[in-house]
Amino acid sequence: MGIAETVKSSRLPGFYKLGLAERVAAVGDWAGLDDEERAILAGRGLQPGQADLMIENVVGTYALPLGIAANFLVNGRDYLIPMAVEEPSVLAAISHAAKLIRAGGGFQAESTDPVMIGQMQVLDVPDLEAAQRAVMAQRAELMALADSYSDSIVRYGGGARDIEARPFADTPVGPMLVVHLLFDTRDAMGANTINTAVEAIAPRVAELTGGRVVLRILSNLADRRTTTARGTVPADALTQPDLPGSAVARLIAEANAFALVDPYRAATHNKGIMNGIDALCIATGNDWRAIEAGAHSYAAHHSRNPGSYSALTDWHVDDNGDLYGEITLPLAVGTVGGATKVHPTARVAMKILGVQSARELAEVMASVGLAQNLAAIRALATHGIQRGHMRLHARQIALAAGAAEGQVQAIADQLVAEGNIRVERARELITN
Ligand code: MEV
Repeated sequence: MGIAETVKSSRLPGFYKLGLAERVAAVGDWAGLDDEERAILAGRGLQPGQADLMIENVVGTYALPLGIAANFLVNGRDYLIPMAVEEPSVLAAISHAAKLIRAGGGFQAESTDPVMIGQMQVLDVPDLEAAQRAVMAQRAELMALADSYSDSIVRYGGGARDIEARPFADTPVGPMLVVHLLFDTRDAMGANTINTAVEAIAPRVAELTGGRVVLRILSNLADRRTTTARGTVPADALTQPDLPGSAVARLIAEANAFALVDPYRAATHNKGIMNGIDALCIATGNDWRAIEAGAHSYAAHHSRNPGSYSALTDWHVDDNGDLYGEITLPLAVGTVGGATKVHPTARVAMKILGVQSARELAEVMASVGLAQNLAAIRALATHGIQRGHMRLHARQIALAAGAAEGQVQAIADQLVAEGNIRVERARELITN
């Protein structure tokens, strides 16, 4: 019996020790992939002809390693996480962190409704306050107009939710009214829906305000569409040979406090979170630049340390002495539209993940971000990250130096043993 056939659990002990083909088989069995889907995983991904239909001026495709993170239990369900990322250590670290949180019952995650914000910039407004009142008085009419351009989303239970008008009396180009359309985009990321809707209602906004509507575009600060993931790690599970678990829990809380108060540290702390989130975004064909923009603007605008860019997470030692962590951020991802259904590898990644909605995808994604952060700050606050990192980095150096596949591990081991992880040394070892 293969390791994936025992139970439908995301615990895959020994997965990392398998050969590449065996890993494809294990994940294929776990997710019920057919032969074509297995071939896509094994390398028959996006073809140049398909790429040519996706963007302009195509000359080829660009591949990234796709790995599977194990051990994720989110809201009582097991998930294998497909991650497209070039950075060594991410997969191993995240799988270990997910195992720690699993020991405390797994992740609990929840989301708001998927409400996106579309913005309209109104200039040359004769009377800012009167314009604001006029827009708000016709709120229902503007929402109905927006809905009339989005039949299918309205049928699925989405549609306009509110209108806001935000006056800026003093800008470099004079007074400005910014009108927001709040719109529930259901399982779509929503960029097209929102942009269509604001372009459609802009002429009426111009009439109501007496102004000139210029920009009509969604906001990536999607702070009405947030997801929170939480988890607890029992202190015992954090025990290391030279450190009791309670000490590790305290060190992690201290590391988080650093990122709460200092934007220089918060940037790196949040970058680590995005190592996980971006990798899942890319694997599932989602727009990771939108997610990045949302995450960092949220870390500034809804800071856990008001007035300063801050950490997206909170980790503290709870009343039982265990480690509690949570993350909240906007996650405007979709399971329909975009590259999710077009890119063959993204389609297979979605099948492995097995999520039924954009909300479920966002909840897994927030959990992935929290796990990645736990892994990073646990390592940083204890033995540091370089030891493990350099071992993996050495393999990339060996590859870069031109080592053949069968040589890479031996050369990397030698580089580590010598403490000399440099391309020149790797070349010498290959030649010798
Ligand atoms: C490296 O890609 C990510 C880390 O720097 C994150 C962090 O410092 O928390 C390790």
